[in-house]
Amino acid sequence: MRFGLLEVLALASVPWCKAQHAQASPSVSETLEATSSVYSMNVTECPGYSLSALTESEVGLTAQLTLAGPACNAFGKDIVNLSIEVVYQSLNTLHVKISDTLNQQFTIPESIVTRPSAPDESYKATSDLVFNYDPSPFAFWITRRLEPDAIPLFDTRTSSLPPTPIPPLNASDPSTAFDAFPLVFEDQYLQVASALPYDTNIYGLGEVIASSGFRRDTGVNGVGTVQTNWNRDIEDPIDQNMYGTHPIYVEHRFNETTNKSSSSGVLLLSAAGADILLQTPPNSNVSFIEYRMIGGILDFYFFSGPTPADVIAQYGAIIGYPMWQPIWGFGFHLCRWGYSNISEVTDVVSQMRAANIPLEVQWTDIDLYHAYRDFTTDPVSFPPEEVQLFVENLASNYQHYIPIVDAALAVTVNSTDVYNPYTRGVEEDVWIKNPDGSLYVGEVWPGYTVFPDWFSENIQSFWTEALKNWSALGVGFSGIWLDMNEASSFCNNSCGSGANYSALTPMSMVGRVITEYPECLLTFVLSYNATIWGPSGNMTINGTSTNSCTTNAMTTTVTKRGLGSGQEPGISINSPPYAIHNAIGALSTNTLATNATHYGGYAELDVHNMFGLMEEKTTNLALQEIFPDKRPFLISRSTFVSAGKWTGHWLGDNYSKWQYMYLSIQGMLQFQIYQIPMVGADTCGFLDNTDEELCNRWMQLSAFTPFYRNHNTYGAIPQEPYRWPSVANASRTAIAARYSLLPYWYTIFANASLTGLPPMKALFYEFPDEPELFAVDRQWMVGKHILVTPVLTPGATTVDGIFPGGGSVVWRDWYTHAVVNATIGGNTTLDAPLGHINVHIRDNSALLLHQQPAYTIHETREGPYALLVSLTGAGTVFGIAYLDDGISPPPTSNRTVTFLVVDGTLSIKSGGTYDVEQKLSTVTVLGAKQPSSVVVNGEEVHGWAYTASIEELVVSDLAISLEEDSSISWK
Ligand code: GLC
Repeated sequence: MRFGLLEVLALASVPWCKAQHAQASPSVSETLEATSSVYSMNVTECPGYSLSALTESEVGLTAQLTLAGPACNAFGKDIVNLSIEVVYQSLNTLHVKISDTLNQQFTIPESIVTRPSAPDESYKATSDLVFNYDPSPFAFWITRRLEPDAIPLFDTRTSSLPPTPIPPLNASDPSTAFDAFPLVFEDQYLQVASALPYDTNIYGLGEVIASSGFRRDTGVNGVGTVQTNWNRDIEDPIDQNMYGTHPIYVEHRFNETTNKSSSSGVLLLSAAGADILLQTPPNSNVSFIEYRMIGGILDFYFFSGPTPADVIAQYGAIIGYPMWQPIWGFGFHLCRWGYSNISEVTDVVSQMRAANIPLEVQWTDIDLYHAYRDFTTDPVSFPPEEVQLFVENLASNYQHYIPIVDAALAVTVNSTDVYNPYTRGVEEDVWIKNPDGSLYVGEVWPGYTVFPDWFSENIQSFWTEALKNWSALGVGFSGIWLDMNEASSFCNNSCGSGANYSALTPMSMVGRVITEYPECLLTFVLSYNATIWGPSGNMTINGTSTNSCTTNAMTTTVTKRGLGSGQEPGISINSPPYAIHNAIGALSTNTLATNATHYGGYAELDVHNMFGLMEEKTTNLALQEIFPDKRPFLISRSTFVSAGKWTGHWLGDNYSKWQYMYLSIQGMLQFQIYQIPMVGADTCGFLDNTDEELCNRWMQLSAFTPFYRNHNTYGAIPQEPYRWPSVANASRTAIAARYSLLPYWYTIFANASLTGLPPMKALFYEFPDEPELFAVDRQWMVGKHILVTPVLTPGATTVDGIFPGGGSVVWRDWYTHAVVNATIGGNTTLDAPLGHINVHIRDNSALLLHQQPAYTIHETREGPYALLVSLTGAGTVFGIAYLDDGISPPPTSNRTVTFLVVDGTLSIKSGGTYDVEQKLSTVTVLGAKQPSSVVVNGEEVHGWAYTASIEELVVSDLAISLEEDSSISWK
C-alpha cells in the first residue's frame, strides 16, 4: 500500500555523490561528470568491442575487450577497457562476466549475494555448455556441447539478431535510437541482446504480474515484454515493475520434429535499474531478449538444464538454496489490517476455535503499534501485558504469533518525545544519509521516518537488539513479517530534512470505508439471492450461472517504446540518461531518492533493488541469535536474487477479485524459479471487499500453495473464514487435506533446501514434451505427485482441467480415489461444486500422510501416519519421505524413509537418526489387484479391505515403526 505525496520539499542541491564507486578516484569521478551534450541518445552508432589478450586457464579463459571505434556515448560514457572472464563453473553452469577493467562500476558485494568461487576441477572439456566467440566485433554465443549446430541458447551476434529490433510505433517514437544491437558498456548504460528462437517459451524475469500469464509474452501477437527492474511499493499492478527484482529466466524449447524438449536458463546477476525486453519484430522469424541497464556490470550465469526443474536447481546452486522452514509455517495463517485492539484479535482466535477451523498463526498488522512506530505496542489498544498474555495463550495451545515490522522508523518529533529505537539508531549511526551526511528523512505511516542502512557497521547488533527488546516487552513473536521494504516512502526525496518533524502526524485510517466488491457480485446477488457477508450468510449456488459479466479485468500498459517515460538528458545520479520504464516515472518517486547514501559510499541508485534482501538477511540473522534453537520464519514483500535463503514472500497488495485469485498462481510459480518457494497470496483478497463465493474458492485454492494466509485491508468487510458457514466448511475440508499432506509438503521443501528443486511446479516441469502444457497457469502440481485444478470463475459448478501424461499416466481423485476418465491432450470437465477443490494424485506416488489432521500442526503430528500409494499400470511405485523435528536449525537429526512397490510387495526402508515415535497405522494401495491375503513383516494380517470398483486395498490397524525396515505384501 502506498500513499500519495503529502508533502514534497525540494531537496537542496547536493554535491555530486560518486557513491557508486566508493573506491573511485576523483579523476574518474570528474570524467563521469560530463554534461548532457555528450550523449548521443542513440545506440545505432555504438562501435562495439574487440577482443585481445586471450588467456586460456584451467577453468575457462580471460581476455580484454577494447572499444572498437569512436565512443558513441549513448546514455553515458563508453568505457574503453573491459575484461571478460569465462568460467566453466560445473558440468551444467557457465559463468561469463564482462566488467570494466578498472573495477569502477558497481558490483554486488559477495557479502550480500554469496556465489561460488571458481571450481577446483576443470569442466572445460566436459561441461554441457560451450562458450563461443567472435573477436571483432566481439560477440559470444552459448551452445550445448552435444548440439553444436542447434540454435544457440544465447547468442549476441548481430548476424543472428533480427535486422530491425523494435519497430517504431509512429514517427515520434524514439525506438529508432535502438535500431541496432551492439554491445554497449557505458558508466550509466549497458546493453546486450541475444537472439532467441521464434516465440520461444520464457518464464521468470519478475517480479511481475504478466497479462500474458506465467509464460512471458515474446511479442509475436502482443506488445511483448518490457520488464523493468526497479523495486517499488504498488498495489499489485499488471505488466509493471513491482516489489522485487529477479533477472533470471527459464527457457523451454520444444523440437516439433523430434517431439522432445529441453530447458536452459540465464541469470544476469545485477541489481542495476534495468529494462529487459522480450520482443519479436514483425515479419521476423527470430525473437530476442535485450538487457538495458543503468549501471553495474554484465555478470551472466548460463544453466544447461535440461529439464525446467534442473534449471531452477542449478540456479539455486549458484545463489543459495532456500532456508529451511519451521514445520508450523505450513499451517494456516490469519491476518488483517484494522483490528482495533487486542480483544478483537483474541476474539478472532476464539471464533476460529469455535468454528473448528484450524488456526496455526495469528498475525497483527500496524494496528499493534503506538503511533505506527516499529518495535512498540499501543498502550491503550494493545497494552504490552495483554499482548503478552495473548501470545502466551496461543503458545500454550501450540499456536504462534507474527507481528509486522515496517522498514522505516519514526523520528522523534520534539525534545520530549521518547522513542528509543530511533535515538539508539542515531547513536549507532545506522540510518541512511543524504549525500551531505545529514539524515535522510522520508515519510511513511508514522510521519517523518528514517531508513535503516543495511550496509552500516552496527546495523546487525542494532536490529537484533531492537527485536530482542520488543520480544522482551511482551511481543513474543515466532516469526517476523517484513513490509514496506522497497523501501516505500510517501514523499519524494528527503522531504523531512530540515523540516519540523512534528509537522507531520501519523497517517489516520479512521473512516476508511471500502465499497468495491469482486467482479460479477451483483449478478450473483440477484441470481442467487445471496447474503453478501456475515455469519448468517446463506448463499446457495444452484448450478446455473446466469453470469454474463467478465472477470478479465486486466489491462496492460506496456508500450513498444525505446525510452522510458520522463527521459531526462544529462548525467545525474538523480535521473540517469536512460530512463527505465519505472511505471511511476522518476526513480526516486515513492521510494528513497537515488542519491540517498549508504555506509561505504554506496548510492541508493546502485543498491536500491537490494534493500529488501539486506533487511531479510539482517532479520534472519537476528532471529537466529535471539532463538538459537529455532528456525527463523520470515515473510517479506521486497525481494532480490538469493532472498529465499533468508525469507519467504507474499505476493503483496492484491485485490479481492477473481482475476487476482487466478493471477496468484503465476506469482507463486515465478517465485519457485526465484528460489523463494515459501510464497502465497493474500487469500480472499486484500484490497476491496471480498464475497462469500470468492473467499470460499480462495481458501481452498491457497490450501494447496506453500504459504497459506488470509489477509485483509483496513476498512474492508471481515473475511475470516468463519464469517460464512460455506467458507468455514470449505476451509475445514481444504485445511484437513493440507494437514494430511504435511509430511509430503515437508519432504518437498526439504528437497528444495537440499537440492534447489521447486516444491510447486508448472505442469510442463513434469511433462516437458507436452506443448499444450507450456502456457498452463490455471493448474499446478504440488511436488511431482499432486495436481490441483481450482475453480477460478464465479458461478461455476464444474471446472476444466488438463491431465498430462498423454494417457499413460493414471490420475486418481484425492477424495474418492477413483481413476479420472481423462481426455488425452485436452481438457477434462470435472465436477466442482462450491466447497470442493479438485485434487488428483499421479500414479507412481507413495505419499506419507498424517492420518488424523487436527487443529494444530503440533497435534496433527502427535497422531499416527498413513501411507497412500498410487500404483503405475505396471504395479510399481517409488516414493520418499523426509522427517525431522521441524524446529531445530539444520543440520539436525533426520530420517529418510523410502517406499518401493514391486510385484505386490511394498518395501519400506528407513535410514537416519531422527526418532519417529508415531507409527504407520494405515496403508492404502490404489491400483492393486484383489488379494487373497496380506502379509506384514512376514505375518498374515486380516485387518484389510478391498474395493474392486476403485482397485483400492486398505490395510488398517497397523503399528509399523518408521524407524525400521518393513514389508507389506498382497497376493
Ligand atoms: C502494506 C502491506 C499490507 C499491510 C499494509 C498496512 O500495504 O502490503 O499487507 O496490510 O501495508 O501495514
